[in-house]
Amino acid sequence: MCGIFAVSGDSSKAGSSVLKGLKKLEYRGYDSWGVCVREQESGTIFIEKEVGKISTVKRDFPAGREAIGHSRWATHGGVTRTNAHPHKVGRVTLVHNGIFENYLDEKKKLSAYAFASETDTEVIAALIDSFLAQDIEPLQALQRAACCIKGRFAILVMIEGREGIFAARRGSPLIIGRGATQTFIASDVPAFLEQTNVVNYLDDDEMVHVVGNKAHFFHLETGTPIEKRNISVPWKVEDAEKGDWPHFMIKEIFDQKKTIQKAIDHEDRKLQQAAKLLENSNGAYFVACGTAHKVAMAAEYFFADIVGRKINVVPASEMPSFERFVNPKTVIIAVSQSGETADVLEILERGKKKGAKILALTNVVSSSMARLADVHLPINAGPEKAVASTKAATAQMALLFLLAYTEIGQANVGRQILRSTASSINDMLNPRYENYIRSVAERISQQPNLFIIGRKSLYPMALESAIKIQEVSYINAQGFAAGELKHGPIALIEKNTPCLVLGDDPETLSNAIELKSRGASLIGVSPTRHDVFQEWLRVPDCNGAQAIASIIPVQILAYHLALLRGLDPDMPRNLAKSVTVK
Ligand code: F6R
Repeated sequence: MCGIFAVSGDSSKAGSSVLKGLKKLEYRGYDSWGVCVREQESGTIFIEKEVGKISTVKRDFPAGREAIGHSRWATHGGVTRTNAHPHKVGRVTLVHNGIFENYLDEKKKLSAYAFASETDTEVIAALIDSFLAQDIEPLQALQRAACCIKGRFAILVMIEGREGIFAARRGSPLIIGRGATQTFIASDVPAFLEQTNVVNYLDDDEMVHVVGNKAHFFHLETGTPIEKRNISVPWKVEDAEKGDWPHFMIKEIFDQKKTIQKAIDHEDRKLQQAAKLLENSNGAYFVACGTAHKVAMAAEYFFADIVGRKINVVPASEMPSFERFVNPKTVIIAVSQSGETADVLEILERGKKKGAKILALTNVVSSSMARLADVHLPINAGPEKAVASTKAATAQMALLFLLAYTEIGQANVGRQILRSTASSINDMLNPRYENYIRSVAERISQQPNLFIIGRKSLYPMALESAIKIQEVSYINAQGFAAGELKHGPIALIEKNTPCLVLGDDPETLSNAIELKSRGASLIGVSPTRHDVFQEWLRVPDCNGAQAIASIIPVQILAYHLALLRGLDPDMPRNLAKSVTVK
């Protein structure tokens, strides 16, 4: 949710470097963009900003060794040039990722300022400027401003007449990249991965002042200096690029040839720790949003089948109604690709205060959730940049399936099943398979509605199928528990309404026949072909891990539906990859 990026160091092309890095963060927001350069000779602040996607933008910037930039997903204020970041107020130019909840109260107090935009961000810039105007030093001005802010923020600040770039965070990610001649500050590693994989993680309530290629770290509350460890991120440049693939989404779908295996090549010690946490608990909750929530629902079935244990699954935004049941014996299991989703983070922070233990499965290892967790299990899927989550979801399911087997002391059995699943998926994912799915997409691409049914762990996959299809193709797709169909939704079926049937157990087939008798055209997603299916997307038989394989052809279908409808599957309207606001 908004990408922010800063470059400081030797090169006088900092503006172009920021533009290039922001393009790699565009998946975080693509409503508008802006770049600010401190001009080398004059020290003047140069700002360029525009509405629209940054990916196709070509610009020359004035020479300068320091630049900051922003790619926006609008929260406060519409998508206009004025609302785009950076915002300049007095001597302060600033970009921001987060939500300043009490900005209207603070704005009222800053009556000396004439605000140009409707954003909360401009108020932060004014706050800092108001402290500078009282001859307060920049680092202290940042500290004072942070005291006024309720909510989450990651900010990058340039101050006229003061060397360097200042940055601070509370609740939104900021990572410092340590290059040989330049230092970078970004919301995510891909922005600077071409230059360096050596990073310092900025934690909540910390700030940094980058001057040239040097970074000085401080506590945001006390202002005391802190030392940071250099850490090497195990990502390769090509992991974060689409290479010859036309879109990240299809690249990441095909990455699943390897990522399921990678998810289970997991440190046994960590898995045992996670299993112990669950074993010692009295009450456990999966808390997640969107696709990750559907993954958690599938894991609910895995734990019921394998461990004989019921784990509650609650969408993070609904969890407040159940928080009074959270106590020191509770384990909260966060499932998240980004590890930054605000709704989940809040539940974890409050749960932790009540003494609950936190188990987090995230893809981004440096994420806030990973750092908050008592036990963190990385899912090792590599950077996922398409807004629609694909490989992260299947890697999460694989790891949770393995965790269930670990809890009953049979990690080897779980690994065996998953290895064979991974190998079958590797065989399944080939150009012929994709072409066939495209031909199915061609037949249904202009249909307004599409329904999906599934049973047991394929029920959450029916819901997940609907999310995938909705978000990239904008078709009205709805997922249902197969058995629930005749309790209402079947009224929606008309002649030729396309319906995906996940699974081929006798009950689901019987529901499929009910659909067909009302005129639906059925697309089966199952290990075996059945007469009732008009088209059939074969998936391997995965011995309990069926959910993992069954979602993959639907991901491919969603991708091709988007293309056939003339849409960009990597950047669906109104969405952003990492939802760091509530
Ligand atoms: C859909 C999708 C979203 C995310 C949700 C949670 O394809 O990607 O529904 O699953 O926003 O995000 P994470 O997993 O980062 O917490």
